[in-house]
Amino acid sequence: MDIALDLGTANTRICIEHDGKVIDEPSVISYDKLTNEILTFGSEAYQMLGRTSNRIDVVFPLESSVIAESSLVEELVNIFLCEVCSSKVVMPRVLACIPGEITEVQKRAIVNAISSFGVRRVLLLESAKAAAFGCGKDIMSPHGAMVVDMGAGSADIAVMTLGGVSVGKTIKTAGNAMDEEIIKYARRQHNLIIGKAMARSCKEAIGTVMYENEERTFRIKGRDAVRGLPKFVDIKSSEIMEVIFDIAKNIAVAIADVLEDTPPELLSDIHTDGITITGGLSKLRGMRDLVENATNIKVTTAIEPSDCVVNGLFKAIDYIDEAEAQKNSLNPLMMVY
Ligand SMILES: Nc1ncnc2c1ncn2[C@@H]1O[C@H](COP(=O)(O)OP(=O)(O)OP(=O)(O)O)[C@@H](O)[C@H]1O
Ligand SMILES: [Mg+2]
Repeated sequence: MDIALDLGTANTRICIEHDGKVIDEPSVISYDKLTNEILTFGSEAYQMLGRTSNRIDVVFPLESSVIAESSLVEELVNIFLCEVCSSKVVMPRVLACIPGEITEVQKRAIVNAISSFGVRRVLLLESAKAAAFGCGKDIMSPHGAMVVDMGAGSADIAVMTLGGVSVGKTIKTAGNAMDEEIIKYARRQHNLIIGKAMARSCKEAIGTVMYENEERTFRIKGRDAVRGLPKFVDIKSSEIMEVIFDIAKNIAVAIADVLEDTPPELLSDIHTDGITITGGLSKLRGMRDLVENATNIKVTTAIEPSDCVVNGLFKAIDYIDEAEAQKNSLNPLMMVY
């Protein structure tokens, strides 16, 4: 049995042979701080975010697309893999994604978390490469393709050719960093303390990084920082734009930087084909235009952008046998454990 696992900072998605996508849940887990017992995970745990008693903690154990709390990631991976593996008799091979820029220690931590389930083999593929497969790009031919996968924890930028990454960069501030900025702004400007889920809903509802004629509003609810009582504020899209713009701009500038380092032949291919953006953050209003303006190259948002990575991992399962036999030097999979 082969499993495609997109263990994201905000969401985990899993595809298995024959069934396609079987899991799409927030990467969140709640546990009892006294007994360390795991209570809930996924959407059920997400509902508890900011609503727990002193005894219960709800955490996203991944940060900037790498492991922040290893034992909890292990628990989470185990729960998700248990859900998809009907029997533990057949040990699965798991193909998981990792950011393009990652240390050996971080890579090892991901492999260890997955291995703890009892798998036959763990294989890894860079997120941008998986996203490229997922949105139907041919990255195995001698032809340059640029894909940027923007999620909650990171934005992975890569120019790919012949199954490998020619130039790439990982930016560690993405969707989550925007949520943090919204939380700080609400406190600073409106004396309102709000939680992560509220900030995220606000960004998804009215967030934009392009000036728009029509002003939209979103009611953020929380606690008055001075009086401690419940309070709400109707926040405007132009306010949110000011708060999140720099983070979006930083990603767009990094894409332009990667293009500057790209060999001319590949650059000409990208100029002809355009750049594709994937991941949840590619749905942010104005993000596509911002990247287009920064690069002067046509930018397309992939269809179903949030699923590109897991779909791509699923397609890349075809390369596992070759990678194990070490037959094809053009194999896109990075390593076999
Ligand atoms: N319509 C939207 N507008 C703005 N942001 C959005 C929208 N939909 C999703 N997002 C944001 O996209 C991010 C989640 O994207 P995704 O599921 O691709 O991340 P992830 O894979 O878990 O993270 P990563 O790949 O960085 O580890 C969140 O920050 C979420 O708020
Ligand atoms: Mg992702």
